[in-house]
Amino acid sequence: MTDPTAPPATHLFYSALAPWWPLVSAPAEYAEEAAFAAALLREAVPPTRTVLELGSGGGNNAFHLKRHFAMTLLDLSPEMLAVSEQLNPECEHVRGDMRSVRLGRQFDAVFVHDAIEYMTSEDDLRQAVETVYAHCRPGGVAVLVPDTIAENYEPAADHGGQDGADGRGVRFLSWSTPVEAGATTSTTEYAFLLRDPDGTVRVAHDTHVLGLFPRATWLRVLTESGFAARSVAEVTAENRLPREFFVGTRPA
Ligand SMILES: C[S@@+](CC[C@H](N)C(=O)[O-])C[C@H]1O[C@@H](n2cnc3c(N)ncnc32)[C@H](O)[C@@H]1O
Repeated sequence: MTDPTAPPATHLFYSALAPWWPLVSAPAEYAEEAAFAAALLREAVPPTRTVLELGSGGGNNAFHLKRHFAMTLLDLSPEMLAVSEQLNPECEHVRGDMRSVRLGRQFDAVFVHDAIEYMTSEDDLRQAVETVYAHCRPGGVAVLVPDTIAENYEPAADHGGQDGADGRGVRFLSWSTPVEAGATTSTTEYAFLLRDPDGTVRVAHDTHVLGLFPRATWLRVLTESGFAARSVAEVTAENRLPREFFVGTRPA
């Protein structure tokens, strides 16, 4: 299924570089966080069976969540949907823009992981939350998980990547730069070294501008869209800052 009005995906990471995604970000890295999300997604009354994920990307969260729920996966990028279809062939995949898509049906729960950070203005965030509400049935639950919020943003550098069984290999560096006080966006620069099976190595650079909103803005936008909203601090054993999960319950 495709929304013909959805704009093309513009980031190299999610278009030309999408086939490299499994070597940049592996499903196993998502297991703990997906389990935390599943516990919140289960809160719908009656209990959750169907989940819509907006901005599902390469489907790494869905790889874990599909054991608990029937997943419908939506993304702007046809290339990322193709990667997810390989990993999650049993899930429904749909192309669309989370700010505007209307599938004409509702789900027990709606999940938006790090893709929500591509909402770079409060207006974009509001449109995405309205999409979440439109697809969440009465009594259903919404879970939104930005990597960072204004209160816990820290500039950082990270690196990773791995070798594939097919002879390809990736190593990357990500660099989130400092922000001014009160900034509503942050910037992450990515540098990739991409090795083809014949040993040829290419370099690619991609800049990602991401929304950065205070907790109060998240809760207000959810509340104004009709949800009873709260935030939940993640419990994680991973060596990183715990994330803040925003949970909205749609009144029955
Ligand atoms: C970091 S990836 C998501 C990875 C995902 N959490 C996973 O489990 O594999 C971010 C995704 O957000 C998608 N995206 C960005 N803007 C979007 C929009 N307006 N609507 C739908 N998807 C969007 C990108 O195409 C990309 O696939």
